[in-house]
Amino acid sequence: MKKHTVAIQFSINGDEKSVEIPAGISALTLIRDVLGLMGTKEGCGIGECGACTIVVDGKAVNACLMFAAQLDGRRVLTVEGLGHGDDLDPVQEAFLDKNAVQCGFCTPGLLMSTHALLQSSPDPDQDQITRAVAGNLCRCTGYRAILDAVADAAKRCQKKRNA
Ligand code: FES
Ligand code: FES
Repeated sequence: MKKHTVAIQFSINGDEKSVEIPAGISALTLIRDVLGLMGTKEGCGIGECGACTIVVDGKAVNACLMFAAQLDGRRVLTVEGLGHGDDLDPVQEAFLDKNAVQCGFCTPGLLMSTHALLQSSPDPDQDQITRAVAGNLCRCTGYRAILDAVADAAKRCQKKRNA
Protein backbone atom coordinates (compact mmCIF):
# COMPACT_ATOMS: atom_id res chain seq x y z
CA MET A 1 0.00 0.00 0.00
CA LYS A 2 1.30 3.47 -0.88
CA LYS A 3 2.24 5.49 2.18
CA HIS A 4 0.15 8.60 2.70
CA THR A 5 2.29 11.68 2.08
CA VAL A 6 1.75 15.36 2.57
CA ALA A 7 3.39 18.37 0.90
CA ILE A 8 4.38 21.26 3.16
CA GLN A 9 6.14 24.59 2.77
CA PHE A 10 7.84 26.40 5.61
CA SER A 11 10.90 28.45 6.42
CA ILE A 12 13.72 27.04 8.49
CA ASN A 13 16.65 29.17 9.60
CA GLY A 14 15.69 31.67 6.91
CA ASP A 15 15.55 29.15 4.05
CA GLU A 16 12.25 28.41 2.30
CA LYS A 17 11.60 24.67 2.02
CA SER A 18 9.03 22.63 0.11
CA VAL A 19 9.02 18.94 0.99
CA GLU A 20 6.78 15.93 0.53
CA ILE A 21 6.89 13.75 3.61
CA PRO A 22 5.12 10.78 5.17
CA ALA A 23 2.07 12.25 6.88
CA GLY A 24 2.77 10.84 10.34
CA ILE A 25 6.40 11.79 10.92
CA SER A 26 7.35 14.19 13.70
CA ALA A 27 8.91 17.60 13.21
CA LEU A 28 12.00 16.14 14.87
CA THR A 29 12.27 13.37 12.27
CA LEU A 30 11.82 15.91 9.49
CA ILE A 31 14.52 18.19 10.90
CA ARG A 32 17.09 15.49 11.67
CA ASP A 33 16.47 12.68 9.20
CA VAL A 34 15.04 14.50 6.18
CA LEU A 35 16.80 17.87 6.38
CA GLY A 36 19.97 16.57 8.08
CA LEU A 37 20.02 19.27 10.76
CA MET A 38 21.50 17.20 13.57
CA GLY A 39 21.88 19.99 16.13
CA THR A 40 18.36 19.34 17.40
CA LYS A 41 18.72 16.33 19.70
CA GLU A 42 16.44 13.41 20.39
CA GLY A 43 16.36 12.44 24.05
CA CYS A 44 13.18 10.93 25.44
CA GLY A 45 11.00 11.26 22.33
CA ILE A 46 7.93 11.84 24.53
CA GLY A 47 8.04 15.51 25.49
CA GLU A 48 9.84 15.11 28.81
CA CYS A 49 13.46 16.24 28.32
CA GLY A 50 13.48 19.32 26.06
CA ALA A 51 16.50 18.14 24.07
CA CYS A 52 14.48 18.55 20.87
CA THR A 53 13.38 22.15 21.54
CA ILE A 54 13.00 24.31 18.44
CA VAL A 55 11.42 27.72 17.98
CA VAL A 56 8.27 27.88 15.82
CA ASP A 57 6.86 31.34 15.09
CA GLY A 58 8.77 32.66 18.11
CA LYS A 59 7.67 29.98 20.57
CA ALA A 60 9.79 27.18 22.03
CA VAL A 61 8.22 23.79 21.29
CA ASN A 62 9.20 20.15 21.57
CA ALA A 63 9.82 18.93 18.03
CA CYS A 64 9.22 15.32 19.08
CA LEU A 65 5.60 16.16 19.96
CA MET A 66 4.74 18.00 16.72
CA PHE A 67 3.78 16.43 13.46
CA ALA A 68 6.00 17.68 10.68
CA ALA A 69 2.83 18.56 8.78
CA GLN A 70 2.06 21.14 11.49
CA LEU A 71 5.06 23.16 10.30
CA ASP A 72 3.27 24.05 7.08
CA GLY A 73 3.39 27.83 6.64
CA ARG A 74 5.38 28.34 9.84
CA ARG A 75 8.74 29.97 10.60
CA VAL A 76 11.14 27.53 12.25
CA LEU A 77 14.44 28.21 13.97
CA THR A 78 16.85 25.46 15.04
CA VAL A 79 20.18 25.79 16.77
CA GLU A 80 21.90 25.89 13.37
CA GLY A 81 20.16 29.22 12.71
CA LEU A 82 21.38 30.94 15.86
CA GLY A 83 24.97 31.81 15.01
CA HIS A 84 26.96 31.90 11.80
CA GLY A 85 30.26 30.02 11.98
CA ASP A 86 32.51 31.76 14.50
CA ASP A 87 30.02 34.61 14.77
CA LEU A 88 28.11 33.28 17.75
CA ASP A 89 24.73 34.44 18.92
CA PRO A 90 24.86 36.27 22.31
CA VAL A 91 22.96 33.35 23.86
CA GLN A 92 25.66 30.93 22.72
CA GLU A 93 28.39 33.27 24.01
CA ALA A 94 26.72 33.47 27.42
CA PHE A 95 26.50 29.68 27.76
CA LEU A 96 30.19 29.38 26.89
CA ASP A 97 31.29 32.18 29.22
CA LYS A 98 29.30 30.84 32.18
CA ASN A 99 30.48 27.25 31.67
CA ALA A 100 26.89 26.15 31.26
CA VAL A 101 27.88 23.38 28.85
CA GLN A 102 29.34 20.02 29.85
CA CYS A 103 28.43 17.02 27.69
CA GLY A 104 26.36 19.42 25.58
CA PHE A 105 23.46 17.09 24.81
CA CYS A 106 20.90 19.38 26.41
CA THR A 107 22.54 22.56 25.13
CA PRO A 108 20.80 23.07 21.77
CA GLY A 109 17.41 22.77 23.46
CA LEU A 110 18.42 25.17 26.22
CA LEU A 111 19.73 27.69 23.70
CA MET A 112 16.43 27.59 21.84
CA SER A 113 14.34 27.94 25.02
CA THR A 114 16.52 30.89 26.01
CA HIS A 115 16.24 32.48 22.58
CA ALA A 116 12.44 32.22 22.69
CA LEU A 117 12.32 33.66 26.21
CA LEU A 118 14.43 36.67 25.27
CA GLN A 119 12.31 37.38 22.19
CA SER A 120 9.18 37.70 24.31
CA SER A 121 10.78 38.96 27.55
CA PRO A 122 14.03 40.84 26.88
CA ASP A 123 14.56 41.58 30.58
CA PRO A 124 13.37 38.42 32.36
CA ASP A 125 13.35 38.04 36.14
CA GLN A 126 14.59 34.90 37.90
CA ASP A 127 11.15 33.38 37.96
CA GLN A 128 10.68 33.84 34.21
CA ILE A 129 14.13 32.38 33.58
CA THR A 130 13.45 29.35 35.76
CA ARG A 131 10.10 28.71 34.08
CA ALA A 132 11.55 29.15 30.58
CA VAL A 133 14.10 26.36 31.06
CA ALA A 134 12.03 24.16 33.37
CA GLY A 135 11.28 21.77 30.50
CA ASN A 136 14.94 21.31 29.59
CA LEU A 137 16.58 18.55 31.59
CA CYS A 138 20.34 18.55 32.12
CA ARG A 139 22.18 15.66 33.73
CA CYS A 140 25.53 17.44 34.07
CA THR A 141 25.59 21.04 35.20
CA GLY A 142 23.39 21.25 38.29
CA TYR A 143 21.52 24.14 36.60
CA ARG A 144 23.16 27.06 38.48
CA ALA A 145 25.46 27.81 35.56
CA ILE A 146 22.54 27.49 33.14
CA LEU A 147 20.40 29.99 35.06
CA ASP A 148 23.39 32.38 35.22
CA ALA A 149 23.93 31.94 31.48
CA VAL A 150 20.33 32.83 30.65
CA ALA A 151 20.56 36.00 32.78
CA ASP A 152 23.86 36.86 31.11
CA ALA A 153 22.37 36.20 27.67
CA ALA A 154 19.62 38.73 28.42
CA LYS A 155 22.26 41.38 29.22
CA ARG A 156 24.25 40.56 26.08
CA CYS A 157 21.17 40.76 23.87
CA GLN A 158 20.19 44.12 25.38
CA LYS A 159 23.71 45.44 24.82
CA LYS A 160 23.67 44.24 21.21
CA ARG A 161 20.29 45.90 20.62
CA ASN A 162 21.53 49.19 22.07
CA ALA A 163 24.87 49.17 20.21
FE1 FES B 1 11.51 15.77 22.71
FE2 FES B 1 12.69 14.74 24.88
S1 FES B 1 13.16 14.37 22.76
S2 FES B 1 11.18 16.32 24.77
FE1 FES C 1 25.13 17.27 29.72
FE2 FES C 1 23.29 19.13 30.06
S1 FES C 1 25.43 19.44 29.71
S2 FES C 1 22.99 17.01 29.79
